Amino acid sequence: MTYMLKIKYTKNLTNQIFYFGFSRNNNYNLIKNWKKIIELKNPISTLDTYRLKKNKKGKIIIDLFKKYKDIPILIEFNDCKNIWLQKYKNTFPANIDTLFLTNFLRERKLSFVRSAIDVGCGQGFVGQYLLEKYHDINTLVFTDINPYAIKLAKINIAMIPKKMINKKKIIFNVSDTFDNIPKKIKFDLIVSNPPYVPYPKAKCVKGDGPYLGVYLLQKLIKESGNRLNKNGHLILNYSVISSDKVRKYLRNFNGKIIDEKTKKVSFWIKEILQDKKFLRFLIRKGLLEKKGDRYFQEIRVADIIFAENQ
Ligand SMILES: C[S@@+](CC[C@H](N)C(=O)[O-])C[C@H]1O[C@@H](n2cnc3c(N)ncnc32)[C@H](O)[C@@H]1O
Repeated sequence: MTYMLKIKYTKNLTNQIFYFGFSRNNNYNLIKNWKKIIELKNPISTLDTYRLKKNKKGKIIIDLFKKYKDIPILIEFNDCKNIWLQKYKNTFPANIDTLFLTNFLRERKLSFVRSAIDVGCGQGFVGQYLLEKYHDINTLVFTDINPYAIKLAKINIAMIPKKMINKKKIIFNVSDTFDNIPKKIKFDLIVSNPPYVPYPKAKCVKGDGPYLGVYLLQKLIKESGNRLNKNGHLILNYSVISSDKVRKYLRNFNGKIIDEKTKKVSFWIKEILQDKKFLRFLIRKGLLEKKGDRYFQEIRVADIIFAENQ
């Protein structure tokens, strides 16, 4: 018997509701009586320890996590449920940036999409959402450089009711970006929540870290034009900290942002928080905001098209 935490996001990410449940064998479908613990408004992170700690019930969540580090976390948004288990190394539960990208996809008219790829899929939430909500999609590729991410994405996709994904071609691929995918395979939609924080000390090579380095961001902008069908779109997240680089790559590879949304989220990247010099630089440039002990960044989700596909 294990505890399971469910974090349900309401529409437009306005609220976050925390529940506890008990499960045998991590199967959340068997949990009937989720117990509501606490509701937070305007979430800026999936597990906002700072705000949770301020509340008696929220503190229970934090204390339980300290005691049982491997509690599975179920993230729910618009009826799409995705589980995260700590043993899948270097993966995270769907975070606020994941949901921000997903909410953007919810608002889009994606009726033109038949084939899509989720690059850097992690636990698979974004691609899973596309599969569950856009029934005209017949091919979906999940790709990540981290083999544990692909294992976890497979678990999540296996939990989708069969009738929802019958006859769809679902491919799991471990590789750097599109490297293992034959060039003749093209997509109507490329989605990605890549590592989006540039850091001078990051090597900027594949596998820098789930949030650090802009190698994947750069490679996506460079190669997506060749990987998209006519009228295809690349929809991705980036941070205000990487915005200069994103504009430069877009100029170099004939990409154009046709729509964009922004959101302020918490900034918790250990390597940068410990690098006081770089931290001061980011604050001075207005790229990071400090409020009390906490840091905030603005993230952006952009809908991009390329001249060669128009
Ligand atoms: C910020 S996490 C996003 C995970 C998930 N899509 C989400 O939104 O929660 C970035 C993901 O990109 C993957 N990644 C980093 N570099 C990559 C590369 N060069 N090729 C493919 N995946 C990469 C990481 O392993 C990680 O799972």
